[in-house]
Amino acid sequence: MSGIKIRGTGRFAPAKIVTNDDLAKIVDTNDEWITTRTGIKTRHHCTTETHTDMCVNAARQALENAGISPEDIGACVVATFSSDYLSPSAACMVQRGLGLPYDAVCFDLNAACSGFLFAIHTMECLLAQAPRKYGLVIGAEMLSRFINWEDRGTCVLFGDGAGAAVVEWREDYPSIHAVLGCHGDPDMLGVTGSAHPEPAHVFMNGQATFKFAVKAVPYCIDQVLEKAAMSIEDVDFFVFHQANARIIDLAAKKYHIPPEKYYKNIQKYGNTSAASIPLVISELHDLGKVGPGSRVLVVGFGGGLTWGGALVEF
Ligand code: ACO
Repeated sequence: MSGIKIRGTGRFAPAKIVTNDDLAKIVDTNDEWITTRTGIKTRHHCTTETHTDMCVNAARQALENAGISPEDIGACVVATFSSDYLSPSAACMVQRGLGLPYDAVCFDLNAACSGFLFAIHTMECLLAQAPRKYGLVIGAEMLSRFINWEDRGTCVLFGDGAGAAVVEWREDYPSIHAVLGCHGDPDMLGVTGSAHPEPAHVFMNGQATFKFAVKAVPYCIDQVLEKAAMSIEDVDFFVFHQANARIIDLAAKKYHIPPEKYYKNIQKYGNTSAASIPLVISELHDLGKVGPGSRVLVVGFGGGLTWGGALVEF
């Protein structure tokens, strides 16, 4: 046996709050459509804050929450595709911002909305070999930079934010039993890049993505439970990527998950891609809904296409 547990959490959202009514002044939409189709009421957009600010603030809070100092960190992985620079990585900027040791292994990875799951699994593997047994796992996204304001089908969905977790690796901790996967598809959902002449922007076939998501979520739940040899009753809390309130409610209904065992904050933040899962985990931790001993089944899905699940303990 060997694995990781979460020892502390933190989060950051930029100050500017954009309401559905604000968006209705820019594109042909309305609060009723956005609320009923997605569950989103507001989202945060960066103005003066940078991606680095979001990462560093969330990570600092997670370190304080864990009672760990920067010198104790052996590795830092940031899940993101919207960092301030293509290089240096966001993780290098966190190393600088927090003064992490020079031999800490710091890098970014891109698995879109599943990013936090890919990052926490990577961290579990890394810490087994790292000089120090604490790691920083951050999910951060500044999607407001990549909004196509001519596409009402996507511009209402996304927001900015960052969430962070300090994890500890020990030989006597259980594995998180991560299940990860991908199916390369450049057409369904993504952000354009250097292969495209126009400014980078989000694109999505909403209905196809919705169908993919409602299959991916139960697949991940079943696979993780099988790998961990546990049943749905063994799980204390369920954390889903916040892409659409209807996707979350459908999953809860399918598995008869009672309302007190899952959580939505999509109404406040919108879809923050890699930040959405750690934003939920950090809020739940502050609310005392998860804490020492809690077993949390985490599920994500998104661009790539990617999907992932894990049973993360506190
Ligand atoms: N306001 C008003 N009307 C709108 C808006 C809007 N903001 N956006 C679209 N519409 C209209 C469409 O034009 C369409 O009108 P029409 O029938 O006259 O053509 C109608 O609403 C229905 O459009 P659909 O796209 O079919 O709407 P749907 O019910 O599928 O909802 C949504 C769209 C909310 C995007 C949904 O498909 C969804 O949540 N998909 C999944 C999103 C997701 O999971 N993303 C994952 C990760 S994102 C990432 O990785 C970056």
